[in-house]
Amino acid sequence: MWKGEYGFAEIADIGYRRASRMKTIAVLTSGGDAPGMNAAIRAVVRTAGYHQLNVLGVMRGFHGLIHDEFIELNPRSVADIIHRGGTILKSARSQEFTTPEGQAKAVENLRRAGVEGLVVIGGDGSFRGALRLQGDGISVIGIPATIDNDIPCTDFSIGFDTTVNTVIEVINKIRDTATSHERIYVVEVMGRHSGHIALYAGLAGGAETILIPEVDFSLDDVCERLVSGYELGKAHSIVLVAEGVGGNLKAGRSLNESSAFHVANYVMEKTGFETRVTVLGHIQRGGNPTANDRILASRLGARAVEMLMEGRSGYMVGIINNEIKATPLEEVFQQEKSMDLEFHRLAHILASQ
Ligand code: F6P
Repeated sequence: MWKGEYGFAEIADIGYRRASRMKTIAVLTSGGDAPGMNAAIRAVVRTAGYHQLNVLGVMRGFHGLIHDEFIELNPRSVADIIHRGGTILKSARSQEFTTPEGQAKAVENLRRAGVEGLVVIGGDGSFRGALRLQGDGISVIGIPATIDNDIPCTDFSIGFDTTVNTVIEVINKIRDTATSHERIYVVEVMGRHSGHIALYAGLAGGAETILIPEVDFSLDDVCERLVSGYELGKAHSIVLVAEGVGGNLKAGRSLNESSAFHVANYVMEKTGFETRVTVLGHIQRGGNPTANDRILASRLGARAVEMLMEGRSGYMVGIINNEIKATPLEEVFQQEKSMDLEFHRLAHILASQ
């Protein structure tokens, strides 16, 4: 008998079904979309199908909960989506859901649809929303999915790996033209207040300098590094800037100026090097999920359903040291997302030769 990591052995399955009285669960995606969300939806639906549970999909996140936008999902409705970016359930940010009336309507609709368990795929804002629905026969489990990788209690969130690979692909292309013209390129990546995308893509892409909100920097030091790179014979330099560094930039930056343009202008004025800017924007949120994201999404989606069947609620399932770990959402909200600053030091050392 095949014995799986999550107790998929036949005996365990029978145990699950007997122990769980749950009949219907629902799944929604919320917040910014992330590649791999579809793979997570597929895992939720098919794991539920395997355990003979009904699954409803909620369209447009919490907005759909308030407006009763439920659709029936079965193993066939999630065919051919494992490789697609975006989310078949669509995503939205709902102002209405922040009101007590909106939340009451959402609970009422869940009850009417017979939903006993809700899987919320999104970021920590989405999990805060989910917790407001918990109780009186409704259980909730969160699955971390955001390209920003800014959720504590999980090493990675779904979508991050794909985004880092997208950024690297772009850096590779920029390198070609940067070398030809012997220019400096300032590339701005997403991440909201977090520098994870810039850090990973900067290390993997060989950027000369990585500017992230988690590490203090001075633009004069950046210029010095670029000048010494030039003296070492470097044909070009890439400066990777996280969008969230805005607050770390010194005075003189106009309100609407993006971080990258501010850095580029400073560098040009101070060094005289020809400098260009690329702001990657939403290209980073699309595309086919990488194998890593599909595998992560499949593991987390399956575990979320099992947890609901075990009668657990108010948890986020994450991955820590390659093991699936559940953390109470209240604890997730209290923790700070950690960052391995050794990566930053390493990138700095490798790029300064
Ligand atoms: O949270 C994901 C993210 O892409 C951030 O990196 C970015 O700051 C933000 O969403 C952009 O949001 P919107 O899609 O609303 O422009």
